[in-house]
Amino acid sequence: MIEVINISKTLPNGKKLLDNISFKVKKGEFVGILGASGAGKTLTLRSLNGLLKPDSGSVIFKNELGEKVNICTLSNKKLRKVRQKIGVIFQGYHLVQRLSVLENVMIGRLGSITTFRSIFYGFTDAEAHEAMGALEKVNMEHLANNKVSSLSGGEKQRVGIARAIFQKPNLLLADEPISNLDPKNAKLIMKLIKPLSEEIPVIGVFHQPEMTAKYCTRVIAIKEGKIIYDGKPNLSEDQLSEIYGEELSTLALQAK
Ligand SMILES: Nc1ncnc2c1ncn2[C@@H]1O[C@H](COP(=O)(O)OP(=O)(O)O)[C@@H](O)[C@H]1O
Ligand SMILES: [Mg+2]
Repeated sequence: MIEVINISKTLPNGKKLLDNISFKVKKGEFVGILGASGAGKTLTLRSLNGLLKPDSGSVIFKNELGEKVNICTLSNKKLRKVRQKIGVIFQGYHLVQRLSVLENVMIGRLGSITTFRSIFYGFTDAEAHEAMGALEKVNMEHLANNKVSSLSGGEKQRVGIARAIFQKPNLLLADEPISNLDPKNAKLIMKLIKPLSEEIPVIGVFHQPEMTAKYCTRVIAIKEGKIIYDGKPNLSEDQLSEIYGEELSTLALQAK
């Protein structure tokens, strides 16, 4: 469970980047965050894993033991530990190109490439087997030994998902995970992400309202740092106009 309570972030010049954002996401939910460019979607996600410290408010994260921590007030050391339990999938994949698919999946449990170098050969057979299992879930086991640099965009994102699965997170965050993909691969990635929400809360930023309508259980819309909608994933034309303003015509063209 993750609960955001009244977080705000204001620039020294007075511009409000996040304005009293509050929401709670439980396991079983796949929440899609929508909003025009610059609305504050990425900043909201970054506050969930402690990369952004809000000026006020709290982000309460409950781990598998049921212990609650406030991400906003944790020391760096404790935050690193909590972050190991938060899976993140990015638009740009964030994989290590020169390493193999399997190695990239294993990095998921370590948190950093430096630790990875020192530990990789210390992985047990059982762990390697488990990493292969994560690759099987995304149908990528046949490419386990290939270099990531040789993969297509859709394949790279499947490795990103396998890495997150292997990490055994208590929360999964995804920032525009399908924005670089063609419609077929975008659907495939949504289909792979959705079932993960049966075990843990999943929150993703998307730029495709037709995809969040189809795959998400709930949509939150952000405009100028404020939540302007939190509810059912199907939005009307009027609601979409309100969320995107002039950007809407561009989105409509993309969906065609
Ligand atoms: N570290 C920062 N310092 C100042 N402004 C920032 C910072 N990060 C993001 N912003 C601004 O905050 C706004 C929201 O950014 P972001 O959350 O990245 O938007 P998006 O909804 O497109 O993901 C944007 O206007 C952006 O320029
Ligand atoms: Mg963004």
